Amino acid sequence: MGRHASEASRGLNHPTGFPVIRKEDGEPTFRGMEPARCLRSVPSDHPPKGLPMSAQADAIASPDGPGSGVPAVRVRDAVKTYGDGPTAVHALDGVDLEVPRGRFLAIMGPSGSGKSTLLHCTAGLDRLTSGSVEIDGTALEGLNDKQLTRLRRQQVGFVFQSYNLVPTLTAAENITLPVDLAGEKVDRNWLDRIVDTLNLGDRLSHTPAELSGGQQQRVAAARALVSRPTVVFADEPTGALDSRSGAELLGFLRDAARTVQQTVVMVTHDPTAASYADRLLFLADGRVVDDMEDPTAGRVLDRMKQLEGDLPSEAN
Ligand SMILES: Nc1ncnc2c1ncn2[C@@H]1O[C@H](COP(=O)(O)OP(=O)(O)O)[C@@H](O)[C@H]1O
Ligand SMILES: [Mg+2]
Repeated sequence: MGRHASEASRGLNHPTGFPVIRKEDGEPTFRGMEPARCLRSVPSDHPPKGLPMSAQADAIASPDGPGSGVPAVRVRDAVKTYGDGPTAVHALDGVDLEVPRGRFLAIMGPSGSGKSTLLHCTAGLDRLTSGSVEIDGTALEGLNDKQLTRLRRQQVGFVFQSYNLVPTLTAAENITLPVDLAGEKVDRNWLDRIVDTLNLGDRLSHTPAELSGGQQQRVAAARALVSRPTVVFADEPTGALDSRSGAELLGFLRDAARTVQQTVVMVTHDPTAASYADRLLFLADGRVVDDMEDPTAGRVLDRMKQLEGDLPSEAN
């Protein structure tokens, strides 16, 4: 630990490689460090000593930073068909998308447009009929079930609308479950900081039934981030929350993207939730029909109205 002390005392880094996190103004935030130093899996002894500053900056950015060229998520011509023959449902009909590291992508679209299917196939919970999904450069379709499970455990976090906590485990046990299942050691410093940011410190020994919906979803968010996955997928994560709990969770996800380069992909039907993202894709009938950078709730609503006008009405 000794070699970390000087970094810590300069206020730049923490032995975990992650920033000190505090809660301020009621909104969870990651604080205390420049983004370039927050990249996950950058060893705490980076940059190598003796390199000129520009090379040091490259060394910081290159392992898995935005400059590395490998996006966190890449989807190519994704097709998912349920059933066959005349009753086949084309849930995904040729979707392309790419999410660079540290970006927060939101996906919206009418019910049945394929949002959950896209999320599940991209997260390795389900397989495409054809096309390709890469997580951090690894093509999922080339993996057998065991390899896919391992990749999911190591590189993917999930937040579901229904929380999906294990009812018989405490909050603390739920949070560390994926890391425990992977047979890995929990990074206590990182865990403490997530718990602190999400204001869960005094709830850790409670079971899900003893927690409010907002608290349960914060436990689910902590569980998704604790292993520092390449990407966190969230399917309507605020769908069951009141607006204040929802705003807290969304603020947490946004800050995780901005300050520790946590890539996030979130499905939502709520324009306000989408406004927390860096970029928004609109899905209709299994295809990407539009996208928007730096969405605001107002612009999202306008675009939704336009898209509804463009689409054939269901009555016809
Ligand atoms: N397991 C399944 N079997 C058959 N059809 C499915 C299945 N899952 C989803 N679908 C169909 O695929 C389409 C897309 O569904 P889904 O991805 O759940 O949409 P969304 O999340 O946008 O509401 C819908 O027509 C839905 O009925
Ligand atoms: Mg859905």
